Amino acid sequence: MSLLDIENLKVYFATRAGIVRAVDGVDLNVGIGEVLGLAGESGSGKTTLGYALMRVLPRNAKLDGRIIFEGRDLLSFSATEFNRVRGREIAMVFQGSMNSLNPVVRVEDQVAEPLILHGGLSEDEAKKRARELLAEVGVSEDKAKSYPHELSGGLKQRVAIAMAISTRPKLLIADEPTTALDVVTQAQILRLISELRDRFGLSVIMISHDLSLLSEVCDRLAIMYAGKIVEVGSKVEVVNTPEHPYTQALLASIPSVERVGVDSPSIPGEPPDPINPPSGCRFMPRCAYARSECKEFNGYLYELSSTHRAACVLVGGKPIERVPR
Ligand SMILES: Nc1ncnc2c1ncn2[C@@H]1O[C@H](COP(=O)(O)OP(=O)(O)O)[C@@H](O)[C@H]1O
Ligand code: SF4
Ligand SMILES: [Mg+2]
Repeated sequence: MSLLDIENLKVYFATRAGIVRAVDGVDLNVGIGEVLGLAGESGSGKTTLGYALMRVLPRNAKLDGRIIFEGRDLLSFSATEFNRVRGREIAMVFQGSMNSLNPVVRVEDQVAEPLILHGGLSEDEAKKRARELLAEVGVSEDKAKSYPHELSGGLKQRVAIAMAISTRPKLLIADEPTTALDVVTQAQILRLISELRDRFGLSVIMISHDLSLLSEVCDRLAIMYAGKIVEVGSKVEVVNTPEHPYTQALLASIPSVERVGVDSPSIPGEPPDPINPPSGCRFMPRCAYARSECKEFNGYLYELSSTHRAACVLVGGKPIERVPR
């Protein structure tokens, strides 16, 4: 069952240089207790999509489409009505949030503060609850009394996660939660997020530029390119039978154990200018399979199975030559 249904979502930024189409007609859904991975190169619109769900967009943004959360159209909510959803039902671990902890406040007190201000708890109750929350994410009682600079990156990220889940949200958006952490700590944080899903039936949108990392913990994967979803499917479908040439190229660029010492191919070319994206398929300037009909392609996601869709003219009966992996 769907917790969240995003329909034709658009986020455009008005800038002096023109309109930036950061998110341009996204359809996506997240099931209850599901971990959905959102992958794509830097600038593809992942963070903007997360901000749109939290309604924390800057003033120059224009939002359009539908965001249906538990049957309610969130875009029809007033700012006051949405305040009851943001941070309570939908929470986000912002990119780099582990580095924005207050340096002069012990972490236990930082976790307790919003519980006093917004949760109506007394100071003692909030401190007790903060210690419980920190224990849930693997921060011991002595570490809870530390200042942020006394903690490792992994522990700070755990604190940021504890703050995000303190209201027991139904949906957690985690934006690049493991960037800047070492490989072992990355794995621990991913495991923690999956445990939280198992324990609390939390749904998660995990955002990362790193598809290999997402494929370790996500149930489903969505691939974003230049503001659009180009492929979505179960982890197995997307990783084992990628149908969109961009997904194939992303997977081919992942360093593999068999290819140790050999450089992984990077995707040639650059993502398009979000102010003047190419007409037709936006991947066309970089696509090895581009052909004349791609110029007219509207980005429609063709159905490959009940769960797998890809937006490419080659999909739908015609075999795709695979990029060797
Ligand atoms: N406030 C803003 N004003 C104008 N353009 C923006 C703004 N925020 C983001 N963008 C642009 O929107 C596009 C998507 O950015 P972002 O969502 O941060 O991508 P990602 O998270 O995938 O790296 C980029 O081209 C970025 O430069
Ligand atoms: S629609 Fe054309 S240009 Fe776009 S990914 Fe498919 S083959 Fe390549
Ligand atoms: Mg981002």
